Amino acid sequence: MFNNISSQAKNLMNLATRHKKDTKTKVITVTSGKGGVGKSTFTANISYILANMGYKVAVLDADIGLANMQVLFNTKPEITFFDYLDGKIDDINDILLDTSYPNITLIAGKSGYEYSNKASSFVFTQIVEDIKALDKFDILLIDTGAGLNEYVKEFLDISPNILAVTTTDPSALTDVYALMKMISSYKESLLLAFNHTKSYQIGATITESVKNLAQKNRLNSNFMLKYLGNVSMSQNIATTGRLRKLFVKEFGDDQTSVELKFVVENLLNYIR
Ligand SMILES: Nc1ncnc2c1ncn2[C@@H]1O[C@H](COP(=O)(O)OP(=O)(O)OP(=O)(O)O)[C@@H](O)[C@H]1O
Ligand SMILES: [Mg+2]
Repeated sequence: MFNNISSQAKNLMNLATRHKKDTKTKVITVTSGKGGVGKSTFTANISYILANMGYKVAVLDADIGLANMQVLFNTKPEITFFDYLDGKIDDINDILLDTSYPNITLIAGKSGYEYSNKASSFVFTQIVEDIKALDKFDILLIDTGAGLNEYVKEFLDISPNILAVTTTDPSALTDVYALMKMISSYKESLLLAFNHTKSYQIGATITESVKNLAQKNRLNSNFMLKYLGNVSMSQNIATTGRLRKLFVKEFGDDQTSVELKFVVENLLNYIR
């Protein structure tokens, strides 16, 4: 019995030290509130830009409603991270899937997971910690689904860097404000990028208005909203998405690719 207890204690200590270990992996959760604003498009294409710069990138598809990353990376994964969470796969390395792009690893998700069963067990925290502990990746990008449900919140909680994608649409901005309000009490900052937005200045001006509103409503004054830039609307983005390709690869000289690269440069300056 004592043996049993001491081995349990050892396991717990291992878990604690494993989770405390410093790793190089920087975690960025991509979110929005409103659906369809371009989170998945941004996540996949940002991963390509980062990989091209030489970073080792993992992309975790955390859209429990509609796993989309496999579509954008044009693969049909048979293994998802839920196989690891459910104990069907023991070795986390087995859920790391190569994509056709060098330096990009996909950790595939699954649509329609019954989250409520596991709501209190921090399953997503566990998987992110386990991926970090591998120390294989420079950056872990997490694509979440629309809305601020419990699992999106869990990914926000564990991520030091949160990138909100929005459009100039009032309902998208209302959702960003709600997100900001929610996280401002316990996070330091929110990174903001505008999609479907034809100039850098429009995004900058709206960001200032949101900041003013936050000040007026007395949101935590230490909380910072950091504007990263804009991406215009482009038929090439919609088309490459449908063809399961990445626009920054296929149309690297397009204005939208240049805009997204600028967003990534700013992102790299801010993440920690
Ligand atoms: N700048 C853009 N110009 C034109 N089409 C775009 C642009 N950005 C995204 N799209 C298209 O808009 C659609 C929605 O994009 P995407 O799936 O990335 O949004 P999302 O925020 O991930 O959606 P969801 O909330 O459902 O996860 C896709 O068909 C995509 O190709
Ligand atoms: Mg999506």
